[in-house]
Amino acid sequence: MERTFVMIKPDGVQRNLIGKIISRFEDKGYRIVAMKLMQVTRDLAERHYEEHRGKPFFESLIDYITSGPVVVMVLEGKDVVAGVRKMNGATNPAEAAPGTIRGDYALDIGRNVIHGADSVESAQREISIYFKEEELLNYEKVTEKWIY
Ligand code: TYD
Ligand code: MG
Repeated sequence: MERTFVMIKPDGVQRNLIGKIISRFEDKGYRIVAMKLMQVTRDLAERHYEEHRGKPFFESLIDYITSGPVVVMVLEGKDVVAGVRKMNGATNPAEAAPGTIRGDYALDIGRNVIHGADSVESAQREISIYFKEEELLNYEKVTEKWIY
């Protein structure tokens, strides 16, 4: 089963959106296999976003992501990488469709509430940056026989 990496960014935590966002993913049928509240260090943020190093928004992105606690999680499910990207909506909330997380909860590209890995390879890399192997739990939920 596919896994992805998701982060509720500092604005999502400050704006009391943790529960609402997690509920969307639970309601969809994805299984949470790891989750924690944490403070991202500059070093960690720069590793996470290394593909954007040198871009004009890089420094403000690192400042933002390190500005307060975030919730990081690993979700598992059928085609979860693409599914979460769809649920998150376009990077720029101005272009994100209503019904998506960014479309419903954000206005500014620099405060877009949520992150989701953009490919299976990115997901594996990001999971390994934020989680130890033993933090990823293997378990089953009886509801899943009604989902698959
Ligand atoms: P990116 O990986 O392109 O978007 P996504 O989060 O949808 O995968 O960019 C990472 C984050 O950088 C994005 O969520 C918000 C921020 N960002 C800006 O602030 N300005 C920009 O012009 C872009 C492209 C991104
Ligand atoms: Mg990205």
